[in-house]
Amino acid sequence: MDSSSSFKAIVTLAFLFVFMGSSSAQLSPTFYSYSCPDLFPTVKSVVQSAISNEARMGASLLRLFFHDCFVNGCDGSILLDDTSTFIGEKRAAPNFNSVRGFDVVDNIKSAVENVCPGVVSCADVLAIASRDSVVILGGPDWNVKLGRRDARTASQGAANSSIPPPTSNLTALVSSFNAVGLSTKDVVTLSGAHTIGQARCTSFRARIYNETNIDSSFAQTRRGNCPSTSGSGDNNLAPLDLQTPTAFDNNYYRDLVNQRGLLHSDQQLFNGGSTDSIVQTYSSSQSTFNFDFVAAMIKMGDISPLTGSNGEIRKNCRKIN
Ligand code: HEM
Ligand SMILES: *[C@@H]1O[C@H](CO)[C@@H](O)[C@H](O)[C@H]1NC(C)=O
Ligand SMILES: *[C@@H]1O[C@H](CO)[C@@H](O)[C@H](O)[C@H]1NC(C)=O
Ligand SMILES: *[C@@H]1O[C@H](CO)[C@@H](O)[C@H](O)[C@H]1NC(C)=O
Repeated sequence: MDSSSSFKAIVTLAFLFVFMGSSSAQLSPTFYSYSCPDLFPTVKSVVQSAISNEARMGASLLRLFFHDCFVNGCDGSILLDDTSTFIGEKRAAPNFNSVRGFDVVDNIKSAVENVCPGVVSCADVLAIASRDSVVILGGPDWNVKLGRRDARTASQGAANSSIPPPTSNLTALVSSFNAVGLSTKDVVTLSGAHTIGQARCTSFRARIYNETNIDSSFAQTRRGNCPSTSGSGDNNLAPLDLQTPTAFDNNYYRDLVNQRGLLHSDQQLFNGGSTDSIVQTYSSSQSTFNFDFVAAMIKMGDISPLTGSNGEIRKNCRKIN
């Protein structure tokens, strides 16, 4: 090696050390490029077959990521099962009888463990599966930042208090998002995830029977499958987006402009307040919504990750190693 090429080698090494040192606590789309080169196609094929089997599953996976990230960061805590000495987040109020897709997450994790055992966290599996779901249902694509590690603990209390209920007014929605570093605009943009998926009667009963900022024929239709009496038909489902609940589009915002938001919290985004203009913009521009949704998903995925030597790479997403 001549002196100029050894100089180059030293400079390159020094640069690498500085770069790696400064980025160790950050997430990166290339985190598994060397350690698990087949990660993305491996995850996507399982997500694809789960969605082919049931289109709603894309929505369920996306929601799991939201409910993971809002509770002490995106750390896979929502995936932990209860044990005799430990109560996890699955039975917390916002999750119980409602979140789903854990078996699909298990299938993705098994497929990933087959190609690169002990390398990829469950928290990152959720992040990739969410992106894949959005893409498969016709939404925008993006590079998912990776390198999160899995929590060794979970918190039912934090899940109860950090995930906003559908009865929230705009002020409450904004403060729960602010609490995790997200903005008022992020509330509107990320609620656009309700362009896909379903809600249970119990989540929207009070709105369709008692609220006035609702299109009356829409309310009438929804009452048809959601009895007014609490306890009857509680788990009957209705689509969050009236027309296209398995397509990731901007119809959710068109619904809001027409007072056809299904949840009280949905219609809060277009109810004469400061966020009306954002809803209006998204209702008339799919591309603006797509662009902002990608940025907001990356921001949500950055909430308090465990990195470096914190946490662990769980072998089975349901339990700590
Ligand atoms: C702004 C505050 C939010 C509230 C109050 C809220 C509330 C809800 C509720 C009550 C349901 C129906 C649950 C049920 O009845 O079982 C639901 C479903 C859903 N939520 Fe949200 N949500 C919010 C934000 C978000 C965000 C930020 C995302 C993702 C980025 C998201 C994704 C979903 C999806 C995809 C579904 C359908 C799930 C399925 O069909 O399995 N939500 N949400
Ligand atoms: C969380 O909410 C559930 C359901 O309402 C309740 O049973 C549980 O006691 C709450 N847990 C904590 C720790 O607050
Ligand atoms: C919004 O909800 C919070 C919490 O339930 C309540 O304290 C507050 O008065 C409500 N604000 C408005 C403007 O209705
Ligand atoms: C509607 O409001 C009335 C009066 O507050 C209440 O008694 C009733 O239970 C509410 N109905 C539903 C379905 O929430």
